[in-house]
Amino acid sequence: MPLTQPTIALSQPSAEEALIHLKEVWKVFKMPAGTFEALKNINLSIRGGEFVSVTGKSGSGKSTLVNMITGIDRPTRGEVRVNGTLLNTLSEGALSVWRGHNLGIVFQFFQLLPMLSVLENVMLPMDFCNRYDPAEREERAMALLRRVGLEKVAHKLPAALSGGQQQCAAIARALANDPPILVADEPTGNLDSRTAAQVMEIFTDLVAHGKTLVMVTHDLSLAQRAHRVLVISDGELIHPAIVATWPHLSHTKMRLLNRHLQTLRLPPTASLPACRWAMVLEGTLHPRPSRRRLLARPAPLSAGTWRAFSHAEEATTYTADTSGALVLLLDEKAWESLRQSAPDLITTLQNRHGGHA
Ligand SMILES: Nc1ncnc2c1ncn2[C@@H]1O[C@H](COP(=O)(O)OP(=O)(O)O)[C@@H](O)[C@H]1O
Ligand SMILES: [Mg+2]
Repeated sequence: MPLTQPTIALSQPSAEEALIHLKEVWKVFKMPAGTFEALKNINLSIRGGEFVSVTGKSGSGKSTLVNMITGIDRPTRGEVRVNGTLLNTLSEGALSVWRGHNLGIVFQFFQLLPMLSVLENVMLPMDFCNRYDPAEREERAMALLRRVGLEKVAHKLPAALSGGQQQCAAIARALANDPPILVADEPTGNLDSRTAAQVMEIFTDLVAHGKTLVMVTHDLSLAQRAHRVLVISDGELIHPAIVATWPHLSHTKMRLLNRHLQTLRLPPTASLPACRWAMVLEGTLHPRPSRRRLLARPAPLSAGTWRAFSHAEEATTYTADTSGALVLLLDEKAWESLRQSAPDLITTLQNRHGGHA
C-alpha cells in the first residue's frame, strides 16, 4: 500500500523550506591513477516529513550522497546543512554528538554490536548522547522494540535473530534518541522480499508519524513508495522533471539531457527567452495574442507540459502569468548539440505540447 499517491515532483523545495540541503556538493576521491568524481555538483533539498528514495546503478554515488547527509563523509567542495546545522563546520567529535541527536542511520548489514543484547544495542545511543534519564532508558528501548515487534527477543544476542529481525532491531536503535531524520542505505538489500515488506511497513509508519526518511534502494517497487524518487547516475543527480516525465529513459540519456538543460525563474509577466525547447515546472506560460495567429492560437503551457519551437524566437511569444513561472529550457546551442549526439532524444522532446497528464 503506497504512502500517498506518488506525486510527480517536477522541481525541488526551496533551500529555505528544506530540512536537508546540499549546495553545490562535490566529492572527489584521489586515486593512484588520478582523481575520481563520485558526486558532481549536487544541489538537493528535502523537506521535513518527506520520504525520499535514492536510486541508481551500483557505484553511481548513492552511498557517497547519503554519507554527506549523515556526516559520515565530508564533501570536497560545497555545503551540507541538516536540521539547521552546517555540517562542514563541525569537528569529528561535535559531528558524532550532533548525529546522535539528529539522525538515525540504518545500514544494509545491520551493524549491531554482537556482544550486546538487542536491548542493550538499542540503549547504546541513549547512553552515548545522555539523552534520557538513565532510569528511563531500558523502558524506552523496550517500547521501541515492541514497536518493531521484537519485545520477545530483547534479551537475546543479535546472532540469535533472523536477518529481518536484526534489521528491525537496527531501526529501533536508529530511533533511540527520537531523531527527526532517518537515513537508510539499502536497508532491505540483504532481506528476502517478505521481510523487506515488513521493514517497509515500519518505515511507512514512521513517515506517517512525521519522520523524514532518506532511503537508498535499487528495488524500484520499494523506491516508488516514497514521496519522491531521486535518480543518481555517475555522480550526477538527475533533474526531477526528467525522472518524472521520462522514467524509462536510459541513464546515459538522462545524464545527457541533464547536462544540457537550464533552469530559469521567470518574473511575473516576463517573456520566455529565445530557446528551442521549454518545459514548465511551476506556473503557466501564455502565448501572446498575435493578429496572424488569431485563428489558431496555441494552447497555454501549464506545469508538466513542454513544447519545441521551430525557431528560437518563437519561444519569446510566451509569457508568464502574474505569479511568474519556473521553466526548464534548451537554448539553440544545447539543442544543436543534442541533435548531433542523440537525435532520438530530440524526437522525444519534439512531441508537441507533451505532458504526462
Ligand atoms: N573511499 C573511496 N575511495 C575511492 N573511491 C570511492 C570511495 N568510496 C566510493 N568510491 C567510488 O565512488 C563511486 C560511488 O560509490 P558509492 O557511493 O559507494 O556507490 P553506490 O552506493 O551507488 O553503489 C564508486 O565508483 C566507488 O568505487
Ligand atoms: Mg552503496
